[in-house]
Amino acid sequence: MTKSINSLIIFGAFGDLAERKLFPAVYQLLRRQLLDESFRVLALARRPVSPSEFHQHVAQGLREHLPPQDFSEALLQQCLARIDYQQLDFSQLDDYVRLQPWLAGRGDSSGIFYLATAATHYGAICDALASANCIEEESRVVVEKPIGYDLASSIAINDKLARHFRESQIYRIDHYLGKETVQNLLALRFANSLFESQWDQKHISHVEITVAETVGIEGRWDYFDQAGQMRDMLQSHVLQLLCLFAMDPPNSLHADVIRDEKVKVLKALKTMTGKGKQHAMVRGQYVAGSMNGKAVPGYLEEPDAVANSKTGTFVAIKAGIDNWRWSGVPFYLRTGKRMHEKLTQIVVHFKQAAHFIFDSDQQHITYNRLIIRIQPDEGISLQILTKEPGLDNSMRLRRGPLNISFRTQGESIPDAYERLLWEVIRGDQYLFVRRDEVEWAWRWCDQLMGEWEQANAPPLKYPAGSWGPQEAIALMTQDGRTWHEST
Ligand code: BG6
Repeated sequence: MTKSINSLIIFGAFGDLAERKLFPAVYQLLRRQLLDESFRVLALARRPVSPSEFHQHVAQGLREHLPPQDFSEALLQQCLARIDYQQLDFSQLDDYVRLQPWLAGRGDSSGIFYLATAATHYGAICDALASANCIEEESRVVVEKPIGYDLASSIAINDKLARHFRESQIYRIDHYLGKETVQNLLALRFANSLFESQWDQKHISHVEITVAETVGIEGRWDYFDQAGQMRDMLQSHVLQLLCLFAMDPPNSLHADVIRDEKVKVLKALKTMTGKGKQHAMVRGQYVAGSMNGKAVPGYLEEPDAVANSKTGTFVAIKAGIDNWRWSGVPFYLRTGKRMHEKLTQIVVHFKQAAHFIFDSDQQHITYNRLIIRIQPDEGISLQILTKEPGLDNSMRLRRGPLNISFRTQGESIPDAYERLLWEVIRGDQYLFVRRDEVEWAWRWCDQLMGEWEQANAPPLKYPAGSWGPQEAIALMTQDGRTWHEST
């Protein structure tokens, strides 16, 4: 049984992640009365501000980012009372020496080091922590995606972490795994024998995974233009959804058991081409368009844009999984920025009944469809067929949904970072990405990106506010199918 650790040290404490996600998560865990009396945060950043100035900064962020119904002045004060601030320059070894007394003064000197910084700093921070004797047997380190830019750079980063931390001490965040609905995939699949017995190529014809965003690149040109949607979203979030959906049943909820199963999926990934060798991959880039009636600029007109950038802001892939369970089943994956609506969903299309006894003109509607809505409007909808009521002689069928919403009235769904921070404190790694998962995901993405580079073709254009390039729609229509866009 791993022990809880109640000292959280945040590097990059003035950054966007800390402000929007980490301090709100601390506040919410406190509000839910989950934190131990001894829980304390040490915030570290380069700015020479006093602890009370830092508290003002945190308070402002909490007022802005917490749901108004969760905010209370009294709890804010309790939260601030648990946050210390120290100035620290990542590159100054002397600054780290002051961390040791803080940790030592906590009774248990194991800490959680949350590196809310660019991955380029991970190595230097870990080395400095080790030199300053801050790393204990049970200390934990938390790092954010993207882990690297490709397989080689991810290996380099993972090696740097591994110099000072064992794999069981490393928590790699993919915040999609902290989303309540993503965890619900495990409940849906493994708590309902009804579904598990249908979860294979005998019963499922194809699966769609859509992660559509309405945001553009939000002023992050430098980062995004290097990454593109493939590295920013597909390599991590989309593949994690695919793994949880497609993995074999783990024999327990133990972190390594689940992660072993996910790795098997990643190892078996491939692209699928059709009979006519149609394209299996589409890469797009948004041009000016309109979102909710408002004109928005194209990718190449974003602030700091470099003319002629070939970075993709959209990617769609017809993927397959080379194993017994999924042989022949296409997984249509797509993710993009500036798309028509914000929508993350998995749509499972079940095969039709083996023998059809109704009027043949109805055959095209007679299959079941399961829609797993991850965001927004979190829930599940199972589309089933029933008879149209009436005395008509012919048996007319209609499809209707059985709906479950995950949001019951008055209940708020915890933010992903609340769940993830809580699991780090408790020391459970089942919602974190293991080194081999990251590296296998890169292997597949590197291969796809290599093919694009070789083809040297510019990304296909799509107007902001649309569902992506026509060719992505054709990825489905060439197989006689269409993307499912609304419930
Ligand atoms: C991040 C990406 O990991 O996920 C962003 O870097 C993206 O580019 C974001 O917008 C999407 O997260 P969510 O939770 O809003 O779907």
